[in-house]
Amino acid sequence: MEKTEKYKFFADKLTQMEADGLLRQLICIDSAQGTVVTVNGCEKILFCSNNYLNLASDKAVINSVTDTIKKYGFGSAASRLITGTMTPHKQLEENFATFFKTETALLFPSGWVANEAILTALPQKNDIVLIDKLDHASIIDAAKQSQATFRTYHGDDFTKLERLLASSDHDRKFIVTESVFSMDGNTADIKRLVELKNKYDAILIVDEAHAVGCMGNTGAGLADALGVMDQIDIIVAPLGKAFAVSGAIVACKQVVADYLINKARPFIYTTSPSVGVCAAASAALEVVKTQPLRRQRLKKNADYLRKKLQAIALDTLNSSTHIIPVCFGDPKEAVDVSKQLFDRGFLVLAIRPPTVPQGTARLRMSVQCDHTIEQLDALADALSEVKYLKS
Ligand SMILES: Cc1ncc(COP(=O)(O)O)c(C=O)c1O
Repeated sequence: MEKTEKYKFFADKLTQMEADGLLRQLICIDSAQGTVVTVNGCEKILFCSNNYLNLASDKAVINSVTDTIKKYGFGSAASRLITGTMTPHKQLEENFATFFKTETALLFPSGWVANEAILTALPQKNDIVLIDKLDHASIIDAAKQSQATFRTYHGDDFTKLERLLASSDHDRKFIVTESVFSMDGNTADIKRLVELKNKYDAILIVDEAHAVGCMGNTGAGLADALGVMDQIDIIVAPLGKAFAVSGAIVACKQVVADYLINKARPFIYTTSPSVGVCAAASAALEVVKTQPLRRQRLKKNADYLRKKLQAIALDTLNSSTHIIPVCFGDPKEAVDVSKQLFDRGFLVLAIRPPTVPQGTARLRMSVQCDHTIEQLDALADALSEVKYLKS
């Protein structure tokens, strides 16, 4: 590692991170993404992507992108308010407003940008933003940037949340939660949150990143599955997970969308996503709506793998979904297990602090609807072998 004076600080930090088992490095996938990918010329069974419904290389999605960019070109050539709103953007937003049964829907370049836009634009100085401790970094960082007072609560116990709501004399109260927590694979008690938001007249924002496409009768997410979708004030639906595209939809009332269009700097001052992204997302939405079997297969695979991992006494935390963590605690151990799995033909990455709290380093396994029973068995067997060799 180069060590000139000017870069010494960074080099030293990286060296320390490596010694602590916390260094992050990019890996390059040299194939289309399915249940198997190619890394360094070798095939690996993939268990760490968010391609839950196997849409990343779906033929209908690819054809739709090709047709659309032939007609419109690729680039949108400016921000949404200049030339960056083209027919595919409008169609996509209409499709998602219908899907979520909301007045309107607005496309953002990513889930990160959507959460940042919402929480820096809507809450004002005399408002309060209440977020779950397990919420994604994009929500935490955006809440910190907001002008409003910001507090965390723990979704396992709503006592603190209710106390904060009851004692608040803020102009507006915002509650922000994920529906399926991205690192633990557990679910938020959305019904209880709806009760609380109604009781205290709060604005409830639900980030359905890991549920949209995977849960609900039509695939609209956990709130849909629980029959309370119409009670959510703002639905955030990042499209880089089950939809396997990129960008994010914010489904909300027209007045909220109009306010974001006028006031949300992360929406206003960035180039609009390509029409290719819009075409891919609209095509993926069609699959989500019309092929519920993919959701059923995903759930079946997830339940099967979780049971197998629990049977070999691995700690899967409170996971109840297609995201299955196996907690080791020590980051070096998590990295070591990940390497040993790689050598046995699997790609599953270690998730370490600060992404997860200290002492909870883990492998985050994510299931795809196309995983076969043989692939699920093979992963459980490999983990069992690694565990046996260690103990
Ligand atoms: C819950 C949640 N919200 C938002 C995001 C950010 O979405 P994007 O990757 O589109 O920026 C993620 C990404 O991992 C996420 O898990």
